Amino acid sequence: MTEKILILDFGSQYTQLIARKVREHNVYCEIYPYNNFPAPDNSVKGVILSGSPFSVRDEHAPIPDLKGIKGNFPLLGICYGAQYLSHKYGGEVNQSDSREYGRARLNFINTTHPLLRNLKNNTQVWMSHGDTIDSLPSGYEVIASTEDVKVGAYAATGEHTFGLQFHPEVYHTTDGKTILYNFLGEICGCTMDWTPETFVESTVKDLGEKLGNDRVVMGLSGGVDSTVAAILLHHAIGANLICIFVDNGLLRKNEFSSVLESYKELGLNVIGVNASELFITDLKGITDPEAKRKSIGKNFIKIFEQEARKLENVDWLGQGTIYPDVIESVSVNGPSQTIKSHHNVGGLPEKMHLKVVEPLRLLFKDEVRRVGKALKIPSSFLKRHPFPGPGLGIRILGEITPEKIRLVQEADDIYIKALHKFGLYDRIWQAGAILLPVQSVGVMGDERTYEFVVALRAVTSTDGMTADWGHLPHEVLSRVSNDIINKVRGINRVVYDISSKPPATIEWE
Ligand code: XMP
Repeated sequence: MTEKILILDFGSQYTQLIARKVREHNVYCEIYPYNNFPAPDNSVKGVILSGSPFSVRDEHAPIPDLKGIKGNFPLLGICYGAQYLSHKYGGEVNQSDSREYGRARLNFINTTHPLLRNLKNNTQVWMSHGDTIDSLPSGYEVIASTEDVKVGAYAATGEHTFGLQFHPEVYHTTDGKTILYNFLGEICGCTMDWTPETFVESTVKDLGEKLGNDRVVMGLSGGVDSTVAAILLHHAIGANLICIFVDNGLLRKNEFSSVLESYKELGLNVIGVNASELFITDLKGITDPEAKRKSIGKNFIKIFEQEARKLENVDWLGQGTIYPDVIESVSVNGPSQTIKSHHNVGGLPEKMHLKVVEPLRLLFKDEVRRVGKALKIPSSFLKRHPFPGPGLGIRILGEITPEKIRLVQEADDIYIKALHKFGLYDRIWQAGAILLPVQSVGVMGDERTYEFVVALRAVTSTDGMTADWGHLPHEVLSRVSNDIINKVRGINRVVYDISSKPPATIEWE
């Protein structure tokens, strides 16, 4: 049984970050809403309470039921979590005279305490709270303070219950990693051996046991998640995994044939289906972005179902769902929960009576890449920029025609090759060319031209939720612009998108 830490979420923006930091110590953890979590069994080594946008004094402040946890398992409250424990068990929490946000320094640290061992004097911590713990429950002691916050960290006597007023999970808390290490290793006694390699080993074993001789069908997209999920399944059941890779006619230049070839080299049992004509014909006359998405999505399901039905004795649908898609999130507007249901291939599992297998549903995106590396998947797959499901369909603004697909494919190809050539590809999170629905006047030789405008987009980001425009060197932009205008007949102007997200989005449609 994999040992784990439970993280109870009170709606903090940092909850997933806590989970990622715990996992960086090779300790597996799971996030649950504070009011809906499984009773801890023997595999649970400790529990962390997250922060929250609420104050413990709010009428609708989230109140967890910690019966069976407090006193029985190591318990670490962070920010709201710390305030809640203090407030609930007899301490006093009040609104601060001055709200504390940002950097602070610990001017008192009890470094003999196991939680704070090896912290440096005066170490920087990151505060983000409007409330202060003015007094602690009896039997609790202060183990760290800042100049303004007396109760920076506390510990209960006689049980493993702790609180941190600051956020150990954020980058700006310099010794945050050490504190989490102390909690996980020293206090919870975790063995800290949950590595990509052990994940691969146990997942392949579990998948093998779960699937036996069953057959699994899975759609591949060329992206990281579906590739890593497929390789894990392939290790477990070999040729009983049948993959389907659909050419919707909206992929990058030569992408279909080169990715299909790479899948085969990886040993996957993969069927390539060229369905471009259906997709492109169906898109005729459509200009609304959502209508394009619907048309492309509908046809993908149609083709996938058609191919899957040709296969006999298939019981399972494999999917590349990852952890952020399945975490139940606590809404800041009240204690309701929503479950995101992404990636589900349009109700296919129910329609075709398939069970769903999702080998990556426990992993964050960066962990998927590390698992991919442990599986020796080439970096050309693992480092590939994200690419939207509707592909170039949403990068051709307005109506899609075969000629416009050709134009954007050529421009995109020149651009992406240049990013590789100048060593910029891996520094950019996502890049691509967008064909604008306007033509502009130009002059080539003695001739006046009236051709399309292409916009280049490159962004830096960690998760696509927020993004900055990529500050590409002018010489590179200049080379790409020249190359596109000289080599792609039909484009006579190139512009560069300098919008961040928010308020813009990454894609234009
Ligand atoms: P936006 O444009 O919303 O994009 O800032 C964020 C990320 O999502 C991708 N994206 C999509 N992916 N289907 C997808 O599979 C879509 O309809 C879609 N729209 C945007 C986008 O490429 C970026 O990585």
